[in-house]
Amino acid sequence: MDHFLYRDGVLHVEDTPVAEIAAEVGTPFYLYSTATLVRHFRLFDDALSGMPHLVCYAMKAASNQAILKTLAAEGAGMDVVSGGEYARAKAAGVPGERIVFSGVGKTEEEIAQALTGGIRQFNVESEPEMQVLSRVAHQMGVEAPITIRVNPDVDAKTHAKIATGKSENKFGIPISRARQVYAMAAALPGLKVIGIDVHIGSQLTDLAPFELAYQKVAELTETLRADGHEIMRLDLGGGLGIPYARSNEAPPMPTDYGALIQRTVGHLGCEIEIEPGRLIAGNAGILVSRVIYVKEGEDRQFLILDGAMNDLIRPAMYDAYHDIVPVVEPAPGVEQVAYDIVGPVCESGDTFAKGRTMAPLKAGDLVAFRSAGAYGAVMASEYNSRPLVPEVLAKGDHYAVIRPRPTFDDMINRDTIPPWL
Ligand code: LLP
Repeated sequence: MDHFLYRDGVLHVEDTPVAEIAAEVGTPFYLYSTATLVRHFRLFDDALSGMPHLVCYAMKAASNQAILKTLAAEGAGMDVVSGGEYARAKAAGVPGERIVFSGVGKTEEEIAQALTGGIRQFNVESEPEMQVLSRVAHQMGVEAPITIRVNPDVDAKTHAKIATGKSENKFGIPISRARQVYAMAAALPGLKVIGIDVHIGSQLTDLAPFELAYQKVAELTETLRADGHEIMRLDLGGGLGIPYARSNEAPPMPTDYGALIQRTVGHLGCEIEIEPGRLIAGNAGILVSRVIYVKEGEDRQFLILDGAMNDLIRPAMYDAYHDIVPVVEPAPGVEQVAYDIVGPVCESGDTFAKGRTMAPLKAGDLVAFRSAGAYGAVMASEYNSRPLVPEVLAKGDHYAVIRPRPTFDDMINRDTIPPWL
């Protein structure tokens, strides 16, 4: 459920008409709903309420300071994957002890940054990383709390570009080598082994792969404990999928996911962490865009929008489906037409949908891409020198621009001219 609903025939974000915001901010722009963000966070938090736990929002999904502050105020921790994300989390007021550091390529600088600013744990992904972490922590005279990310070789049954839990993926250490690598970690200075980490992929619409992976983690916990390691925390990753098309079957609910966690690892007495990104932010955001032209092709009609692949890359990159709805609700029973929905960027890949049937639209009409809150604004670029798409956050009947659209001068003045020109 989200808070983007038609009221009196016009799309609202919570209590504000979307068209009112478009008139002030201009299009395209991302628009988030506070109530939806909070609701989704609480669903996870409640789903784990029977166990000691921390929900660490995977801020790669949407990392605007206002979004982080909204979630941090609810008690969210953060899952970060770069020095930039760590700095953003700290700037939003998240204390180090609520930040976990994931990612396959943490640099020495990033490791030192997190050790200096405080960190809940590093999720270590390889032996060489473990050695660097040990050296940096030892030199700084501190102990780095670590989990080791294991790759359980489970098929997440999701898009190949976002599956991470198969042995051919670059993530984690093979679970078959876990005992050896934990033994190595225990012997290294500057490290304190505290748990196990796993993350098998994103946009999972079936719970079965989670179940398989978490069973393997439960077995590994017992084995490692028998080997003398103190395993007190399990980071179970993110990945729960969302419905992108309203006609689709509903993916599993966080409550079912929470029950699965309880069932598979609840008996171990570990503190549980999860790292959801998409399910918290995805349906809490839309991309609002305006029709520039309706163009007649030879055998099709093109709807040319002012939003483009640089603003929302998911359809071009993953063939992702997003519902695209008119901001003014069509009259019931109106005859539908098929459109190829495209942006103005000079590539055929700048196509959001082909043959999408919807009520007829004309130049000047507003449309909303639903489910665009996660991996939308964060993956935007200025390709074709289109200024970075702005972001707006709504709450009840207020809204605020949380990242303004850069002017052309802002864009140009970021470049610097070498002395010979
Ligand atoms: N934890 C780790 C270690 C991850 O790599 C990810 C996502 C998450 C948590 C959060 O997963 P989520 O709950 O959001 O599924 N750009 C792609 C998605 C990439 C996901 C990368 N890792 C897309 O637009 O579909």
